Amino acid sequence: MIGKTILVVDENKATREYLSHVLKERQFNVLEAGSGKEALISAWRDLPDLVVFDPTFSDLQDLEFVQKLRQNARSAGMPIVAFSSDPAPARREACLKAGVNIYIVKSAKALSELQYALEQLLHAGKTDAETMESSHGSRESGLSIVFLSAKGGTGTSSLCANLAMTIKEQQPEARVVVVDLVLPIGSIAQIVGYEGQLNLVTAADLPSAQTNGEYFLKNLPQPELWKFQLLAGSPDPQHGNNLKVDRIGQIVDVLRVTYDFIIMDLGRSLSRISMPLIKQADLIPLIVANDQSTVKLTKKIWEYFQEQGIDAQNVYAILNRAVGLEGLTKSEAEGIIGFPIKTTLPYMGSNFSVANNFNQPIITKYPKDTATIIFKETAADMVKTARQLRARRNLS
Ligand SMILES: Nc1ncnc2c1ncn2[C@@H]1O[C@H](COP(=O)(O)OP(=O)(O)O)[C@@H](O)[C@H]1O
Ligand SMILES: [Mg+2]
Repeated sequence: MIGKTILVVDENKATREYLSHVLKERQFNVLEAGSGKEALISAWRDLPDLVVFDPTFSDLQDLEFVQKLRQNARSAGMPIVAFSSDPAPARREACLKAGVNIYIVKSAKALSELQYALEQLLHAGKTDAETMESSHGSRESGLSIVFLSAKGGTGTSSLCANLAMTIKEQQPEARVVVVDLVLPIGSIAQIVGYEGQLNLVTAADLPSAQTNGEYFLKNLPQPELWKFQLLAGSPDPQHGNNLKVDRIGQIVDVLRVTYDFIIMDLGRSLSRISMPLIKQADLIPLIVANDQSTVKLTKKIWEYFQEQGIDAQNVYAILNRAVGLEGLTKSEAEGIIGFPIKTTLPYMGSNFSVANNFNQPIITKYPKDTATIIFKETAADMVKTARQLRARRNLS
């Protein structure tokens, strides 16, 4: 990393000097700031390639530092790494939501995590800047899209795989990864026909130093016909129970800075693992089936989201007529849940499971079907919406 300049921000002089020393040894140019205000001045005057900061300031409000950097054109796309003494998930989420790229908790292995974060961000930095100019508007990491539903069997996994494939087909140059986070057993590997050993559980068993962006780009399978790369889920409940849950945060952070789209299947889980991912997501496709009970459960989820401070704009409801033609109409479902449904996918009868059983995407297997048109329109609209929301988030 010869020639890259890093601004180190920490009110604690000893920590700051230690970090500077380590970074200088690794051939970085280092700038230091001992307060939030000093750091803002340096960021805008010296234009470092990246900022590392401890997010507890005595001269600035909690998130003010990150917000100010993101709002200013000179620093809007600057990679920001939190190197924090606070392990609280709430702080982590708030920082990521405000625009921090990676949140590292100070610990014995934090320095090696930081080293990898720097490599990822400084490599990704260039592509990001180029992509930013070409089409994306300002963005600091890939767009994250999390699929979930209130009930099993609503088509969440099928739609996640099929819409991810359609997104990749529409943007062949984009790096797209699908992550199956459904526990205790994932189903995307089955839908796309992947039978290899690399999955969330085996990846989480590897040391964090190994699971960097390059590792995933090189090793994640790209199943035939599906075009995206897959981090498969747990192959069975026994593996699922052994998942090193604490590793998920780092893995997802690495994927966010490595891929242009990180598309996750969360199934029907609103757990300690999935809530931070939902809060941090650019778009939350919420799959709704057209039976009373699913729609009512969806309303509960929606109410929970509101309590959790999730912005209604980020929720993208899709009505999937998975259970047949009888049942509620779109407007009836909207009436019960209390928010708009963006798109309705037709009931495809056994065609859908036939495509799944043959490990084929819907748009490949049934190119002339109405569903294919809707898949294509929906994928394009989801990407457009996610980009708009990201741009808005960066401004606010
Ligand atoms: N629009 C649809 N028309 C017909 N069958 C569907 C439709 N959407 C999903 N299915 C079928 O419903 C079943 C459950 O889908 P799946 O994606 O596994 O749901 P979930 O992940 O929500 O549990 C699968 O057999 C799938 O083929
Ligand atoms: Mg599923």
